[in-house]
Amino acid sequence: GFKSRVTVVGSGNWGSVAAKLIASNALKLPSFHDEVRMWVFEEVLPNGEKLTDVINKTNENVKYLPGIKLGRNVVADPDLENAVKEANMLVFVTPHQFMDGICKKLSGEITGEVEAISLVKGMEVKKEGPCMISSLISKQLGINCCVLMGANIANEIAMEKFSEATVGYRESREIAETWVQLFSTPYFMVTAVHDVEGVELCGTLKNVVAIAAGFVDGLEMGNNTKAAIMRIGLREMRALSKLMFPSVKDSTFFESCGVADVITTCLGGRNRRVAEAFAQSGGKRSFDELEAEMLQGQKLQGVSTAREVYEVLNYCGWLEMFPLFATVHQICIGRLKPEAIVHYREHKA
Ligand code: NAD
Ligand code: 13P
Repeated sequence: GFKSRVTVVGSGNWGSVAAKLIASNALKLPSFHDEVRMWVFEEVLPNGEKLTDVINKTNENVKYLPGIKLGRNVVADPDLENAVKEANMLVFVTPHQFMDGICKKLSGEITGEVEAISLVKGMEVKKEGPCMISSLISKQLGINCCVLMGANIANEIAMEKFSEATVGYRESREIAETWVQLFSTPYFMVTAVHDVEGVELCGTLKNVVAIAAGFVDGLEMGNNTKAAIMRIGLREMRALSKLMFPSVKDSTFFESCGVADVITTCLGGRNRRVAEAFAQSGGKRSFDELEAEMLQGQKLQGVSTAREVYEVLNYCGWLEMFPLFATVHQICIGRLKPEAIVHYREHKA
């Protein structure tokens, strides 16, 4: 019978873990080809070797997920078009700022019955307005696109510690269940919900809340303040999601992609960590500089998402309704001091 071929587009910290999860299932499930292709944005390591060659030789992404074997059936490929050529299931997992370029490159290249899923947390803001990454993929490539989001710090899942995730789908429950099957392991429990926009907006907007939580940590404001920021953040996430897409369901915010992702990201995420350092510097060091120094090639999503959200709020005349989101952006660009994270009422536009 027909066997599905999976390609993972992206190979950063989470991309590599996604490839590991999928590779273990592709070996077990008869409806999938064993080989899982992984597109790698090629780079040369300090020792002069290419990252792709090292991944294929050692079965490890030594730069973005050191110490973890991905599975011998993962094949790294630096050529994007070649990597997707034979696949009928595409998993997109890169920092969101690169997705527009990737979609442009792949536009016209995808033919036949192809399904996609996006693990990318973020959105694009174009002249016409905001566009979720799953819609960008759908529109540019002419294919259906589900999403997978959740409380998923990649390094913890790499060590096979138990966590949950949420698949959001638009139409076909059957296709969503195929993705659930491809990702699920005893330590990774995936649930499908019929709310693609709600799930994707949870994953996207919680990164702005995480920046706020990092400011609170950097200023040593304590647990009550951080919990307040998380609660207010979650309320703004729900309010904005429903304004953008009235179909978004309240119940989605109680899935892993909602409250659970807010919690884990505000406790242990990269956005939180770098925002903490930013606040400790009194806002004197830039996020770009701190990101490069602290994350060694990994990328923050929260700072650019805060800007994108601000553009949407400003354009729609909604700034006053979202003081937390608006304040995070103004702190990031140096217009307000990190302390303003708890004084936002006074700084309303
Ligand atoms: P990452 O933060 O590790 O980013 C590094 C990746 O970006 C590398 O693969 C690098 O090669 C690639 N890259 C750099 N420049 C590029 C360019 N010009 N074009 C294309 N690629 C380029 O990536 P990640 O952790 O895999 O995150 C991908 C998405 O998954 C993000 O939206 C993130 O929010 C989300 N996510 C991450 C985690 C996590 O714990 N890391 C968990 C859940 C979701
Ligand atoms: P950070 O990018 O802040 O590390 O968050 C990772 C994440 O999305 C956890 O679900």
